[in-house]
Amino acid sequence: SERMWSCITDFFTYETTKSVVVKSWTIGIINRVVQLLIITYFIGWVFLTEKAYQIRDTAIESSVMTKVKGFGIYNNKVMDVADYVTPTQGASVFCIITKLITTENQVQGYCPDSEKRKFLCTDDRNCTKHINKPASYGIATGRCVPFNAMIKTCEIKGWCPAEIDTINTPMMETENFTIFIKNSIRFPTFNYTKGNFLPNITKKYISECNFDMVNNTYCPIFRVGDVVRYAQQNFTNLAEHGGVIGIKIGWMCDLDKSDDHCNPSYSFTRLDAMSQNNTVSPGYNFRFAKYFKMENGTDYRTLVKAYAIRFDVLVNGNAGKFNMIPTLINMVAAFTSVGVGTVLCDIILLNFLKGAEQYKAKKFEELPWNVLCLLYYQKKQSPDSLKTVFLITITGSAELLGKLYL
Ligand SMILES: *[C@@H]1O[C@H](CO)[C@@H](O)[C@H](O)[C@H]1NC(C)=O
Repeated sequence: SERMWSCITDFFTYETTKSVVVKSWTIGIINRVVQLLIITYFIGWVFLTEKAYQIRDTAIESSVMTKVKGFGIYNNKVMDVADYVTPTQGASVFCIITKLITTENQVQGYCPDSEKRKFLCTDDRNCTKHINKPASYGIATGRCVPFNAMIKTCEIKGWCPAEIDTINTPMMETENFTIFIKNSIRFPTFNYTKGNFLPNITKKYISECNFDMVNNTYCPIFRVGDVVRYAQQNFTNLAEHGGVIGIKIGWMCDLDKSDDHCNPSYSFTRLDAMSQNNTVSPGYNFRFAKYFKMENGTDYRTLVKAYAIRFDVLVNGNAGKFNMIPTLINMVAAFTSVGVGTVLCDIILLNFLKGAEQYKAKKFEELPWNVLCLLYYQKKQSPDSLKTVFLITITGSAELLGKLYL
């Protein structure tokens, strides 16, 4: 039991490090400069720039409503929103159709395929290899039929007549259409809500403003032509082939500041960047059909191939607010890091300064095994004492190492 008691008294002890004060200008200045650098880094970057005293909410909740306005003229017909915007719900992703290829009065039946390069033929033998396989606009029957007075193509079974890719010019008025965006956001951690209609926006201003990067940075109405230009795209080219443009709304909020510092910032990019320089599949297009019934009950349809500019409204953001826990954690990290300077100073002190040997002896006198360890290394391994001293300096691991080697 005496042994156990000594065990207990051994446990309840406190060890403190013995300090050696070195009065040297060189090492003194290095020490203070290193400490100053570390403190500057923590105050300037970690606390002021990165705002490490705040907790952040990055799980932004958002809703987006959009509305397009404007009239265009296409094939001598006036086009309104219901004609050129799809889908019509006014969601965050919508398309403005800029070019149409329509094929009217299609019915189920047999007709020549309109893809002339691949399905051109002179008699049925050219078409037998396609029999019952998908052709361009239907399923091939294996027969060769006249396409017009000049040429013949393979026959298909499907919606007839087959679509003919005509050359149309895009609806240029699209450039002057406007997109109105209503965006509400919420940061759930702080239960903070805000919208992109800032309190200082009046009804009169909204009725006449257009967003621009300089004077009307908070106007929620965007001219299509401006959006395309801000995304560094050529409007004619985009309208011709179609494409996807991203309208990004960023909310970076510091909730320690007043409410009018939490504002949206808009930016624009082309999202389908790979289709720009791609000759195989440039741009963006899709097909849809409108179905009708004849009096005798047969279905017929109008097929539309639409080239469109798709707009994706993307909302992102985060908010920060002062909180005790991150402040404490980062302050502790800052104070601890100031101690990192001693590692550097120790290396210099024990190796490069005049009288390094004496300092070594002074520093390690209370831990004889440490000195032994040092000597052991210097004799046996290599004269590379810098490495050794660095090992010793990280006292904890050095202790372990020392015990292992002795
Ligand atoms: C767009 O509007 C401007 C000014 O109202 C007009 O000068 C221009 O011709 C319009 N552009 C198109 C393509 O209609």
